[in-house]
Amino acid sequence: MTPRGIEVLKKISCNAVGLDSEYTLATGELKSRTYLDSTASTLRLQVVDDVLQHYLPHYSNTHSLLHFGAKLSTHEYAWVHDMVLEFVGADPEAYTAFFVGQGTTASINRVAATLREKRPDRDMVVTSIMEHHSNDLPHRKHFPEVVHVPARMAKTSIGMVHLERLQEALDTHGERVNYVAITGVSNVTGIINPIHEIAEMAHAVGALVVVDGAAMAAHQPIKLSGHDNPARNIDVLCFSGHKVYAPGSPGVVVTLKDLFADIEPQVVGGGMVENVYLNRHTTLEKFPDREEAGTPNICGAIGLGASLYALNQVGMDTLAKEEARTIQYALDRLSEIPNIIIYGETDGSLCKRAGALAFNLRDIEHGLTAAALNDYFGVAVRNECFCAHPYVREMITEVLAEEEDGLTDEELEMMADLHRGMVRASFGIYSTEKDVDTLAEALRHIANNRDYYIENYTRLDSGDYIHKTFQFDHSQLFSVRGAVDEWLEQ
Ligand SMILES: Cc1ncc(COP(=O)(O)O)c(C=O)c1O
Repeated sequence: MTPRGIEVLKKISCNAVGLDSEYTLATGELKSRTYLDSTASTLRLQVVDDVLQHYLPHYSNTHSLLHFGAKLSTHEYAWVHDMVLEFVGADPEAYTAFFVGQGTTASINRVAATLREKRPDRDMVVTSIMEHHSNDLPHRKHFPEVVHVPARMAKTSIGMVHLERLQEALDTHGERVNYVAITGVSNVTGIINPIHEIAEMAHAVGALVVVDGAAMAAHQPIKLSGHDNPARNIDVLCFSGHKVYAPGSPGVVVTLKDLFADIEPQVVGGGMVENVYLNRHTTLEKFPDREEAGTPNICGAIGLGASLYALNQVGMDTLAKEEARTIQYALDRLSEIPNIIIYGETDGSLCKRAGALAFNLRDIEHGLTAAALNDYFGVAVRNECFCAHPYVREMITEVLAEEEDGLTDEELEMMADLHRGMVRASFGIYSTEKDVDTLAEALRHIANNRDYYIENYTRLDSGDYIHKTFQFDHSQLFSVRGAVDEWLEQ
């Protein structure tokens, strides 16, 4: 760890927008929130906001070098692409980075559609049950067959992708496999997958490897290319700005250029063409332009560039080490709570995690735990299935199977569906041991006073819990109309 890295880390981590936002709780107390929902969206770093404030007076559309604002915007927007490549350790000769519509979801949809067309003979995708739906449904949409490799569960509940079963799938389907789509880090448990090992396995049968980096990019160093063994290089990576401390959600695709070359881009329109005649058009060969039809999310991209540049000043190795300490501390503190189930292996030496962990309090529904954490303690978490139904179902079934003797597989599945859902605490660069302590103490209180919390809430058919007497009126704090009216009256 370099002293400068630590110094920069200190400076940027305690300056995030909204870290200390205050809310009145069900107890009547006014309290700063404890934000533990960074896997859904990270808070924006203050440095990113400040950079945008510097940029906005010059804001203009890109794709022009004519007037001053356009020159500046075009140059800086182009620079962000270089910054992305640097951040993910991708050789700029071989790889390109481009931005697409809504988040990682749009990135993966683009990749699936493109690779299906580019490699038509390979009509199958191998993925895992750990995936966010956004790294599953796009493959199902574009390919006739998708194979889901299980996670390693039995007894140890380890929770990462089952490599032996992956190897079996590759051996069985070999030349039909277009690519292996795998998450770098689970958005449910934070468990890290060995993506370079998986790349070697995929490449051995001529398949590509597509990594969903949405839950990884803010937490782990990424090196797509330049491995001693080139089979360990990653072919395609997807992530998005709102997962890495930037505003909005520009989806990012980083890919080997060859994979997107020589076919018509999936999205067509202005900006990606050389010439348009009434009966035909010629597509630009140049990356990233050919993949970026339309006006891009310029501010989102500039914000992302600022964030990645700042994170590089810290050094992602440094950051990963710091965060590993926080997550181990969280595992240790939460393990002390009576009646808690933490999903996945909790021994950090057997199974590494980044950014998140998921749990349940026995005999208290996840919806109630999450609502009580928010309403009584100002702790912002997320609950339910985190758009990863198969993985959550498997994890819950696994625990039920260990605890409930003599149930058939069918009964287990029914019970798992009934109780489906968890609570997830997720962390960012600004998360501290104090945040973990707040969470742990709150959970202990809820676990020890189950009846009190049950009495104070109504369970809706949706599974959500609402407090019987305490209501949060958001418009007292913010509404678009209210904010505009206030501005107009100044
Ligand atoms: C692992 C993973 N993949 C994909 C997504 C979808 O990302 P986005 O919301 O940027 O489309 C998420 C979002 O939570 C995620 O955690």
